Amino acid sequence: MAMQYNRIFNFSAGPSMLPVPVLERCRDEMLNYRGSGMSVMEMSHRSKVFDEIAVNAQRLLREVMGIPDHYKVLFMQGGASLQFAAIPLNLRKNGRADYIRTGNFSTIASKEASKYLKVNIAATTEDSNFDHIPAQEELALDPQADYVHICMNNTIYGSRFSYIPETGAVPLAADLSSCILSEPIDVSKFGLIYAGVQKNIAPAGMAVVIIREDLLREPAPDLPIMLDYKLMADKDSMYNTPNCWCIYVTGLVLEYIRSIGGVEEMARRNKKKADALYACLDESRLFHAAVWPGSRSMMNVTFRTGDDTLDAEFVKGAAERGMVNLKGHKKVGGMRASIYNNMPYEGVETLISYLKEFEAAHPAK
Ligand SMILES: Cc1ncc(COP(=O)(O)O)c(C=O)c1O
Repeated sequence: MAMQYNRIFNFSAGPSMLPVPVLERCRDEMLNYRGSGMSVMEMSHRSKVFDEIAVNAQRLLREVMGIPDHYKVLFMQGGASLQFAAIPLNLRKNGRADYIRTGNFSTIASKEASKYLKVNIAATTEDSNFDHIPAQEELALDPQADYVHICMNNTIYGSRFSYIPETGAVPLAADLSSCILSEPIDVSKFGLIYAGVQKNIAPAGMAVVIIREDLLREPAPDLPIMLDYKLMADKDSMYNTPNCWCIYVTGLVLEYIRSIGGVEEMARRNKKKADALYACLDESRLFHAAVWPGSRSMMNVTFRTGDDTLDAEFVKGAAERGMVNLKGHKKVGGMRASIYNNMPYEGVETLISYLKEFEAAHPAK
């Protein structure tokens, strides 16, 4: 179906591919949204027609993720990065928090938080260039911490938590930017979940925050209004003008996910893609996956040949074959295939064929 548009396989780490049926809906509704006579881009966020869009998006997120009633859903601006400050500013009580550093964004989050409270690095895998996730037994958690922060899926290094850390009475705050909606997740195990929307949910420009109600507190006097979770919850994320377009596309993507069988079906498809790609890498003499088996991401697959010139040749050849954005992040080198929800299986199959073709053309010396 996508063939008719001449689309290529975009392995970008984000923003990334959206479902074609969603893009088609956006196109069809672009100039006149369902008889309103205007585009969603032109609507007042206070209008009845937009209110329905926002209510629907939130309702669908709750349904698709199975978010319990005692959690609030917020649509906030500033991307996931603004949450790095919002979390400590809203959740601090004792003034201490535990951070587990497993990659780039959890490191940035911990540094940002250290401006506002005392950060304890409860575990890190930095010494081995973040090639795995620490086990529960390795986490040096502080029972008096205001919260524990993790990044569930490390977009740049290609690793992920395959378990949800047990933090006792301390709330767990998790960055799900690059794995939200990729598989079912038990929201009740978290105090707070946040995610930039530009990988599995919508175009760039918004973050979703899912927060347990008991963590919504009266704000400190110096808390910026735009970071105030309680205010955002009280105002249904409409204290000011929200990102209306993003909220609209969020609703469409969620409807699409529901139509294919929900996150369970999404997980089945994602696992099939990731298993096929890792199996190919593990069989290869030339290419090597960068992350330990038990910690490998289903969304971002990092690999390399070990030879920078060959890696560059591979990336160039892939682009010539309609597979773009495979160059790894400069902190890791090599290649990274981001195979989010909307990368079709054919994209992974095409990549696997090219991996084999490339290997055959470059026999071991
Ligand atoms: C895991 C993770 N956290 C945070 C961010 C930062 O997100 P944003 O650009 O929305 O601020 C990213 C961006 O790629 C990410 O992958």
